[in-house]
Amino acid sequence: MDLAYLAQLPPQEFIDRRRRVFEQMQDNSAFIIFTETEKRRNADCDYLFRADSYFWYLTGFGEPKSALLLIKRQGRAESVIFVRNKDPLMETWNGRRLGVENAPQALNVDHAFDIENIEAIFAEKTQNLTACYYAKGVQTWGDALVAKHFAEPIDWQPMLSEMRLIKSTAEIALIQQACHISALAHLRAMKQTRPNRYEFEIEGEIQHEFSRFGARFPAYNHIVASGENACILHYNENDQVLKAGDLLLIDSGAEFAHYAGDITRTIPISGKFSEAQRELYEIVLEALKEATKLLVPQSSIKVANDKALRIMTEGLVRLGILQGEVEQLIADKAYRQFYMHGLGHMLGLDVHDVGEIGKERDRPLEVGMVLTVEPGLYIASGANVPEKYKGIGIRIEDNLLITEYGNKNLTCGCPKEIADIEGIMAGKNEI
Ligand code: GLY
Ligand code: MN
Ligand code: MN
Repeated sequence: MDLAYLAQLPPQEFIDRRRRVFEQMQDNSAFIIFTETEKRRNADCDYLFRADSYFWYLTGFGEPKSALLLIKRQGRAESVIFVRNKDPLMETWNGRRLGVENAPQALNVDHAFDIENIEAIFAEKTQNLTACYYAKGVQTWGDALVAKHFAEPIDWQPMLSEMRLIKSTAEIALIQQACHISALAHLRAMKQTRPNRYEFEIEGEIQHEFSRFGARFPAYNHIVASGENACILHYNENDQVLKAGDLLLIDSGAEFAHYAGDITRTIPISGKFSEAQRELYEIVLEALKEATKLLVPQSSIKVANDKALRIMTEGLVRLGILQGEVEQLIADKAYRQFYMHGLGHMLGLDVHDVGEIGKERDRPLEVGMVLTVEPGLYIASGANVPEKYKGIGIRIEDNLLITEYGNKNLTCGCPKEIADIEGIMAGKNEI
């Protein structure tokens, strides 16, 4: 299967993004952004390289040790890319490079230079300019160079984050694919889960499905958390044996063409939920469904979260896990012991994507935003609750696109009803 054609944004998309940056830059200013550097894992082995998301957003260029410089001088725009020079010996050992000569045409920029010459060329190109847009401390290898010429750069993060917050049609298509692949992977995990396998074996099943559909990387480290491990929100040791009777929380999302999916499902290792697990699961599922109805234009994450935590507080009182009056418990944030994270986050090039959504997460939602909805309940074994609920952790997470008429659930293909999950695990439901 040739997947490469799917994994591209149209080149015009990157040109348009840079044009929008030029429009927002003040006259006689520079804008510079660096990508990630290679990271050593051990000895002479590196982690696999992934471009910085801001840099990728403006260039679509995935090699390390690169920088993009935009110049706006007397109203005229110039785009310059710095890349590694071609080097036959290094390329034989470590892989191909685009090279300086090919870069202008391949990346639709005006000029390209060897990254090794960036000091001198940056100094020359920015002469007499009055301002520089630069985010200090993000890719720190560029900090000293910029500081030499501009003492107080203007942070470009607010500008780029705002642009990244609203997704284009082409971006939505890629996110949709990431979500679709993620859903297929969770489905495989449901079919492959049984007692006595290891958590990392299920991780492997998920990774297998990602690769089969063109997503080589996960968007974040897989969380495959059985039993009480599910109460560790970003658990990723993934090295325990699955025990009969426990739940398995899987939080895994594919990265497709640099865009993230982010799905969580919680399933019974033996194929059937116990009564106590079912009671808690139904509460989280109801919170998810009701919150989803409120994640629509003009509403906000805060509005939906208020609804979710009310449902979960009522549920916890019903089960005798919390005692007291619901209003007071909500006012006291009593749920925080069992629900200690936010309802969701933006999704895009990064799994926790950028974008100012308000301190209280109360910015009105807009068409083209993509976000997660992921309520959860985590009852640690040391909690002072009825015995049967101890050590149960449940999260259910979907991904939503905000549309003109409400939202579109991009991960609805991934089963989450108890009957559907149990049916798939019993081999009865072929979805
Ligand atoms: N996968 C991390 C999260 O759900 O936020
Ligand atoms: Mn997640
Ligand atoms: Mn998430």
